Amino acid sequence: MFRDLADIENEALKEIEAIQDASGLEKIRIKYLGRRGIITDIMSRLPELAPEQRPRIGKQANDLKVKLIGFISERQRNLKTQTSAEKKQDLDLTLPGIRQEIGHKHPITQTIERICDIFVSIGFKIVEGPEIETEYNNFTALNIPIDHPSRDAFDTFYLETENQKLLLRSHTSPVQIRAMKKYKPPLAVVVPGKVYRPDAVDASHSFMFYQVEGFFVDEDVKFSDLKGILTHFAKKMFGQDIKMRFRPHFFPFTEPSAEVDISCIICKGKGCSACGRKGWLEILGAGMIHPAVFEHVGYDAKKFTPLEKSIKKIGKKENSLTGLTGFAFGMGVDRIAMLKYGINDIRLFYENDLRFLRQF
Ligand code: DAH
Repeated sequence: MFRDLADIENEALKEIEAIQDASGLEKIRIKYLGRRGIITDIMSRLPELAPEQRPRIGKQANDLKVKLIGFISERQRNLKTQTSAEKKQDLDLTLPGIRQEIGHKHPITQTIERICDIFVSIGFKIVEGPEIETEYNNFTALNIPIDHPSRDAFDTFYLETENQKLLLRSHTSPVQIRAMKKYKPPLAVVVPGKVYRPDAVDASHSFMFYQVEGFFVDEDVKFSDLKGILTHFAKKMFGQDIKMRFRPHFFPFTEPSAEVDISCIICKGKGCSACGRKGWLEILGAGMIHPAVFEHVGYDAKKFTPLEKSIKKIGKKENSLTGLTGFAFGMGVDRIAMLKYGINDIRLFYENDLRFLRQF
Protein backbone atom coordinates (compact mmCIF):
# COMPACT_ATOMS: atom_id res chain seq x y z
CA MET A 1 0.00 0.00 0.00
CA PHE A 2 2.89 2.41 0.83
CA ARG A 3 6.16 2.83 -1.05
CA ASP A 4 9.12 1.63 0.95
CA LEU A 5 10.14 4.46 3.30
CA ALA A 6 13.86 3.70 2.76
CA ASP A 7 13.44 4.24 -1.00
CA ILE A 8 11.68 7.52 -0.35
CA GLU A 9 14.54 8.60 1.96
CA ASN A 10 17.25 7.74 -0.64
CA GLU A 11 15.41 9.50 -3.40
CA ALA A 12 14.85 12.63 -1.27
CA LEU A 13 18.51 12.73 -0.13
CA LYS A 14 19.77 12.54 -3.72
CA GLU A 15 17.48 15.37 -4.76
CA ILE A 16 18.46 17.55 -1.81
CA GLU A 17 22.18 17.06 -2.47
CA ALA A 18 21.88 17.78 -6.18
CA ILE A 19 19.86 20.95 -5.85
CA GLN A 20 21.85 24.20 -6.34
CA ASP A 21 19.39 26.96 -5.55
CA ALA A 22 17.01 27.97 -2.80
CA SER A 23 13.86 27.94 -4.92
CA GLY A 24 14.61 24.37 -6.11
CA LEU A 25 15.10 23.33 -2.49
CA GLU A 26 11.74 24.82 -1.55
CA LYS A 27 10.12 22.74 -4.31
CA ILE A 28 11.68 19.60 -2.82
CA ARG A 29 10.37 20.55 0.64
CA ILE A 30 6.86 20.95 -0.79
CA LYS A 31 7.15 17.66 -2.69
CA TYR A 32 7.86 15.70 0.52
CA LEU A 33 6.61 17.80 3.42
CA GLY A 34 3.98 20.10 1.88
CA ARG A 35 0.27 19.73 2.56
CA ARG A 36 0.00 17.20 -0.25
CA GLY A 37 3.55 16.00 0.07
CA ILE A 38 4.67 12.36 0.02
CA ILE A 39 5.35 12.15 3.78
CA THR A 40 2.22 14.12 4.71
CA ASP A 41 0.19 11.76 2.53
CA ILE A 42 1.60 8.70 4.29
CA MET A 43 0.85 10.19 7.70
CA SER A 44 -2.72 11.02 6.77
CA ARG A 45 -3.33 7.50 5.43
CA LEU A 46 -1.98 5.68 8.50
CA PRO A 47 -5.56 4.79 9.62
CA GLU A 48 -5.88 2.65 6.50
CA LEU A 49 -3.19 0.31 7.86
CA ALA A 50 -3.83 -2.74 9.97
CA PRO A 51 -3.84 -1.61 13.60
CA GLU A 52 -0.71 -3.66 14.51
CA GLN A 53 1.27 -1.97 11.64
CA ARG A 54 0.21 1.56 12.50
CA PRO A 55 2.63 2.40 15.36
CA ARG A 56 5.75 1.08 13.56
CA ILE A 57 5.05 2.67 10.17
CA GLY A 58 3.81 5.82 11.91
CA LYS A 59 7.06 6.14 13.85
CA GLN A 60 9.20 5.43 10.76
CA ALA A 61 7.30 8.04 8.76
CA ASN A 62 7.66 10.57 11.55
CA ASP A 63 11.41 9.88 11.88
CA LEU A 64 11.81 10.35 8.14
CA LYS A 65 9.89 13.64 8.33
CA VAL A 66 12.20 14.93 11.08
CA LYS A 67 15.27 13.74 9.12
CA LEU A 68 14.13 15.46 5.92
CA ILE A 69 13.43 18.72 7.78
CA GLY A 70 17.00 18.53 9.14
CA PHE A 71 18.55 17.76 5.72
CA ILE A 72 16.64 20.51 4.02
CA SER A 73 17.59 23.20 6.54
CA GLU A 74 21.25 22.07 6.46
CA ARG A 75 21.26 22.29 2.67
CA GLN A 76 19.70 25.71 2.95
CA ARG A 77 22.61 26.89 5.14
CA ASN A 78 25.17 25.41 2.74
CA LEU A 79 23.59 27.12 -0.23
CA LYS A 80 23.77 30.49 1.57
CA THR A 81 27.46 30.26 2.48
CA GLN A 82 28.22 28.96 -1.00
CA THR A 83 26.64 31.96 -2.69
CA SER A 84 28.40 34.48 -0.46
CA ALA A 85 31.69 32.63 -1.06
CA GLU A 86 31.04 32.88 -4.79
CA LYS A 87 30.39 36.58 -4.39
CA LYS A 88 33.69 36.99 -2.58
CA GLN A 89 35.46 35.36 -5.50
CA ASP A 90 33.99 38.05 -7.78
CA LEU A 91 35.79 40.74 -5.78
CA ASP A 92 39.20 41.32 -7.37
CA LEU A 93 41.28 43.22 -4.85
CA THR A 94 43.97 43.94 -7.44
CA LEU A 95 41.62 45.98 -9.64
CA PRO A 96 42.26 49.75 -9.46
CA GLY A 97 39.67 51.66 -7.40
CA ILE A 98 37.13 54.14 -8.73
CA ARG A 99 39.08 57.35 -9.10
CA GLN A 100 37.69 60.34 -7.21
CA GLU A 101 38.09 63.57 -9.16
CA ILE A 102 40.04 65.92 -6.90
CA GLY A 103 40.60 69.48 -8.05
CA HIS A 104 43.89 71.29 -7.80
CA LYS A 105 45.12 74.86 -7.77
CA HIS A 106 44.96 76.95 -10.92
CA PRO A 107 48.40 77.60 -12.50
CA ILE A 108 48.00 81.32 -11.73
CA THR A 109 47.27 80.55 -8.06
CA GLN A 110 50.27 78.22 -7.94
CA THR A 111 52.47 80.97 -9.41
CA ILE A 112 51.17 83.61 -6.96
CA GLU A 113 51.83 81.25 -4.05
CA ARG A 114 55.35 80.48 -5.30
CA ILE A 115 56.17 84.20 -5.70
CA CYS A 116 54.76 85.10 -2.28
CA ASP A 117 56.47 82.13 -0.58
CA ILE A 118 59.86 83.35 -1.80
CA PHE A 119 59.29 86.81 -0.31
CA VAL A 120 57.63 85.53 2.87
CA SER A 121 60.65 83.28 3.46
CA ILE A 122 62.86 86.39 3.71
CA GLY A 123 60.53 88.30 6.02
CA PHE A 124 57.92 89.97 3.80
CA LYS A 125 54.27 89.99 4.93
CA ILE A 126 51.29 89.55 2.60
CA VAL A 127 48.79 92.43 2.48
CA GLU A 128 45.75 92.57 0.22
CA GLY A 129 43.65 95.48 -0.98
CA PRO A 130 40.28 95.97 -2.69
CA GLU A 131 39.78 95.68 -6.45
CA ILE A 132 37.55 98.77 -6.40
CA GLU A 133 39.82 101.71 -5.62
CA THR A 134 39.68 105.45 -5.31
CA GLU A 135 41.25 107.55 -8.03
CA TYR A 136 43.37 109.05 -5.28
CA ASN A 137 44.97 105.73 -4.23
CA ASN A 138 45.32 104.37 -7.75
CA PHE A 139 46.87 107.54 -9.24
CA THR A 140 47.19 110.73 -7.20
CA ALA A 141 48.93 109.33 -4.13
CA LEU A 142 51.28 107.44 -6.42
CA ASN A 143 52.44 110.74 -7.93
CA ILE A 144 50.76 109.99 -11.26
CA PRO A 145 49.99 113.42 -12.77
CA ILE A 146 46.46 114.40 -13.74
CA ASP A 147 47.29 114.30 -17.47
CA HIS A 148 49.04 110.93 -17.40
CA PRO A 149 47.75 108.64 -20.19
CA SER A 150 47.06 105.75 -17.77
CA ARG A 151 44.31 107.89 -16.22
CA ASP A 152 42.49 107.97 -19.53
CA ALA A 153 39.20 106.08 -19.75
CA PHE A 154 40.81 104.03 -22.52
CA ASP A 155 43.27 102.65 -19.97
CA THR A 156 41.23 102.44 -16.78
CA PHE A 157 37.72 101.16 -15.99
CA TYR A 158 35.88 103.95 -14.16
CA LEU A 159 32.81 103.21 -12.09
CA GLU A 160 29.91 105.62 -12.14
CA THR A 161 29.44 106.95 -8.63
CA GLU A 162 27.90 110.19 -7.47
CA ASN A 163 30.33 111.75 -5.07
CA GLN A 164 33.62 109.85 -5.33
CA LYS A 165 35.63 108.81 -8.37
CA LEU A 166 35.96 105.05 -8.10
CA LEU A 167 37.60 102.66 -10.51
CA LEU A 168 38.76 99.08 -10.94
CA ARG A 169 42.39 99.29 -9.86
CA SER A 170 44.73 99.21 -12.85
CA HIS A 171 47.68 97.96 -10.79
CA THR A 172 48.40 96.69 -7.27
CA SER A 173 50.49 99.76 -6.39
CA PRO A 174 47.58 101.53 -4.56
CA VAL A 175 47.99 98.92 -1.81
CA GLN A 176 51.35 100.61 -1.11
CA ILE A 177 49.35 103.66 -0.07
CA ARG A 178 46.87 101.67 2.03
CA ALA A 179 49.58 99.65 3.79
CA MET A 180 51.87 102.64 4.46
CA LYS A 181 48.96 104.59 5.93
CA LYS A 182 47.94 101.68 8.13
CA TYR A 183 51.32 100.41 9.35
CA LYS A 184 54.52 102.04 10.57
CA PRO A 185 57.91 101.26 9.07
CA PRO A 186 59.94 99.09 8.88
CA LEU A 187 57.60 97.54 6.35
CA ALA A 188 58.28 94.62 4.02
CA VAL A 189 55.12 93.77 2.12
CA VAL A 190 54.00 91.76 -0.90
CA VAL A 191 50.58 92.33 -2.45
CA PRO A 192 49.07 89.71 -4.77
CA GLY A 193 45.85 90.47 -6.60
CA LYS A 194 43.69 91.08 -9.65
CA VAL A 195 44.00 94.22 -11.74
CA TYR A 196 41.88 95.52 -14.64
CA ARG A 197 42.57 97.41 -17.87
CA PRO A 198 40.26 97.93 -20.85
CA ASP A 199 42.64 96.23 -23.28
CA ALA A 200 41.42 94.32 -26.34
CA VAL A 201 41.85 90.65 -25.51
CA ASP A 202 44.53 88.82 -27.52
CA ALA A 203 47.30 86.28 -26.93
CA SER A 204 49.18 88.64 -24.61
CA HIS A 205 46.41 90.92 -23.25
CA SER A 206 43.47 90.35 -20.96
CA PHE A 207 41.08 92.91 -19.44
CA MET A 208 41.80 91.28 -16.07
CA PHE A 209 45.11 89.84 -14.98
CA TYR A 210 47.22 89.39 -11.87
CA GLN A 211 50.09 91.33 -10.32
CA VAL A 212 52.29 90.95 -7.29
CA GLU A 213 53.47 94.25 -5.83
CA GLY A 214 56.27 94.43 -3.32
CA PHE A 215 57.84 97.19 -1.26
CA PHE A 216 60.24 97.72 1.57
CA VAL A 217 60.46 100.85 3.74
CA ASP A 218 63.08 101.35 6.41
CA GLU A 219 65.99 103.57 7.28
CA ASP A 220 68.78 103.62 4.76
CA VAL A 221 67.32 101.30 2.14
CA LYS A 222 69.52 101.38 -0.95
CA PHE A 223 69.12 100.52 -4.61
CA SER A 224 71.61 97.70 -4.01
CA ASP A 225 69.12 96.22 -1.49
CA LEU A 226 66.49 96.20 -4.24
CA LYS A 227 68.93 94.51 -6.61
CA GLY A 228 69.88 91.93 -4.02
CA ILE A 229 66.29 91.05 -3.13
CA LEU A 230 65.14 90.83 -6.75
CA THR A 231 68.16 88.74 -7.76
CA HIS A 232 67.37 86.36 -4.89
CA PHE A 233 63.77 86.19 -6.09
CA ALA A 234 64.67 85.52 -9.73
CA LYS A 235 67.12 82.75 -8.86
CA LYS A 236 64.56 81.05 -6.61
CA MET A 237 61.83 81.44 -9.23
CA PHE A 238 63.73 80.61 -12.42
CA GLY A 239 66.90 78.83 -11.29
CA GLN A 240 70.35 79.66 -9.94
CA ASP A 241 71.89 80.26 -13.38
CA ILE A 242 69.53 83.12 -14.24
CA LYS A 243 71.13 86.51 -14.95
CA MET A 244 69.47 89.88 -14.29
CA ARG A 245 69.62 93.23 -15.97
CA PHE A 246 68.27 96.57 -14.71
CA ARG A 247 67.40 99.03 -17.49
CA PRO A 248 66.72 102.67 -16.59
CA HIS A 249 63.03 103.45 -16.99
CA PHE A 250 60.42 105.90 -15.74
CA PHE A 251 57.62 105.33 -13.25
CA PRO A 252 55.99 108.31 -11.50
CA PHE A 253 56.03 106.57 -8.11
CA THR A 254 59.71 105.60 -8.05
CA GLU A 255 62.92 107.54 -8.62
CA PRO A 256 65.21 106.21 -9.91
CA SER A 257 63.18 103.55 -11.72
CA ALA A 258 64.13 100.49 -13.69
CA GLU A 259 62.70 97.74 -15.79
CA VAL A 260 64.14 94.41 -14.81
CA ASP A 261 64.96 91.65 -17.28
CA ILE A 262 66.08 88.07 -16.74
CA SER A 263 68.25 86.15 -19.19
CA CYS A 264 65.95 84.21 -21.51
CA ILE A 265 65.00 80.94 -19.82
CA ILE A 266 64.54 79.24 -23.19
CA CYS A 267 67.75 80.12 -25.06
CA LYS A 268 69.79 80.99 -21.94
CA GLY A 269 70.56 84.43 -23.34
CA LYS A 270 71.68 83.45 -26.83
CA GLY A 271 68.61 84.92 -28.56
CA CYS A 272 65.52 83.05 -29.75
CA SER A 273 61.95 83.73 -30.89
CA ALA A 274 60.63 83.80 -27.29
CA CYS A 275 62.89 86.73 -26.35
CA GLY A 276 62.75 88.43 -29.76
CA ARG A 277 66.44 87.50 -30.38
CA LYS A 278 67.42 89.78 -27.49
CA GLY A 279 68.39 87.10 -24.99
CA TRP A 280 66.46 88.99 -22.27
CA LEU A 281 62.89 88.84 -20.97
CA GLU A 282 61.29 91.73 -19.08
CA ILE A 283 59.68 90.52 -15.86
CA LEU A 284 59.01 93.55 -13.67
CA GLY A 285 59.23 97.25 -12.94
CA ALA A 286 60.94 98.62 -9.84
CA GLY A 287 62.65 101.57 -8.23
CA MET A 288 63.24 103.64 -5.11
CA ILE A 289 59.95 104.95 -3.70
CA HIS A 290 59.45 108.58 -4.73
CA PRO A 291 59.42 111.14 -1.86
CA ALA A 292 56.05 112.40 -3.13
CA VAL A 293 54.54 109.02 -2.29
CA PHE A 294 55.90 109.21 1.26
CA GLU A 295 54.42 112.66 1.53
CA HIS A 296 50.96 111.39 0.56
CA VAL A 297 51.02 108.73 3.28
CA GLY A 298 52.28 111.12 5.94
CA TYR A 299 55.85 109.87 6.23
CA ASP A 300 58.38 112.66 6.61
CA ALA A 301 59.71 112.62 3.10
CA LYS A 302 62.00 115.63 3.09
CA LYS A 303 64.39 114.08 5.49
CA PHE A 304 64.36 110.86 3.61
CA THR A 305 65.07 111.51 -0.05
CA PRO A 306 68.16 109.63 -1.15
CA LEU A 307 69.39 112.70 -3.00
CA GLU A 308 69.02 114.98 0.00
CA LYS A 309 70.67 112.43 2.19
CA SER A 310 73.67 112.26 -0.08
CA ILE A 311 73.89 116.03 -0.19
CA LYS A 312 73.57 116.24 3.55
CA LYS A 313 76.18 113.56 4.02
CA ILE A 314 78.62 115.42 1.81
CA GLY A 315 77.75 118.82 3.27
CA LYS A 316 77.75 117.89 6.89
CA LYS A 317 80.19 115.04 6.66
CA GLU A 318 77.98 112.96 8.80
CA ASN A 319 77.39 109.38 7.88
CA SER A 320 74.83 108.39 10.46
CA LEU A 321 71.85 110.19 8.98
CA THR A 322 68.79 108.12 9.47
CA GLY A 323 65.52 108.47 7.65
CA LEU A 324 62.97 106.47 5.76
CA THR A 325 63.74 105.25 2.30
CA GLY A 326 62.26 102.39 0.37
CA PHE A 327 62.08 100.39 -2.78
CA ALA A 328 59.09 99.03 -4.66
CA PHE A 329 58.51 96.62 -7.49
CA GLY A 330 55.58 95.20 -9.43
CA MET A 331 55.34 92.14 -11.63
CA GLY A 332 52.75 90.54 -13.87
CA VAL A 333 51.90 87.08 -12.59
CA ASP A 334 50.42 85.90 -15.89
CA ARG A 335 53.58 86.80 -17.77
CA ILE A 336 55.76 85.01 -15.21
CA ALA A 337 53.53 81.91 -15.32
CA MET A 338 53.66 81.98 -19.13
CA LEU A 339 57.46 82.16 -19.09
CA LYS A 340 57.81 79.49 -16.43
CA TYR A 341 55.45 76.99 -18.06
CA GLY A 342 56.13 77.90 -21.71
CA ILE A 343 52.56 79.10 -22.44
CA ASN A 344 52.10 81.38 -25.44
CA ASP A 345 48.50 82.59 -24.96
CA ILE A 346 47.23 84.37 -21.83
CA ARG A 347 43.61 83.50 -22.72
CA LEU A 348 44.27 79.85 -21.80
CA PHE A 349 44.35 80.90 -18.12
CA TYR A 350 40.80 82.24 -18.23
CA GLU A 351 38.90 79.91 -20.55
CA ASN A 352 38.47 77.14 -17.95
CA ASP A 353 39.39 74.43 -20.45
CA LEU A 354 40.11 71.37 -18.31
CA ARG A 355 42.37 69.89 -21.01
CA PHE A 356 44.67 72.86 -20.35
CA LEU A 357 44.21 73.20 -16.58
CA ARG A 358 44.77 69.48 -15.86
CA GLN A 359 48.36 69.82 -17.07
CA PHE A 360 49.46 71.81 -14.01
N1 DAH B 1 52.48 99.51 -11.21
C1 DAH B 1 53.34 99.23 -12.34
C2 DAH B 1 52.51 98.69 -13.50
O1 DAH B 1 51.41 98.25 -13.30
C3 DAH B 1 54.38 98.22 -11.98
C4 DAH B 1 55.38 98.79 -11.01
C5 DAH B 1 56.50 99.43 -11.47
C6 DAH B 1 55.18 98.69 -9.66
C7 DAH B 1 57.44 99.95 -10.61
C8 DAH B 1 56.09 99.25 -8.76
C9 DAH B 1 57.24 99.86 -9.27
O2 DAH B 1 55.93 99.17 -7.45
O3 DAH B 1 58.15 100.37 -8.39
O4 DAH B 1 52.96 98.71 -14.61
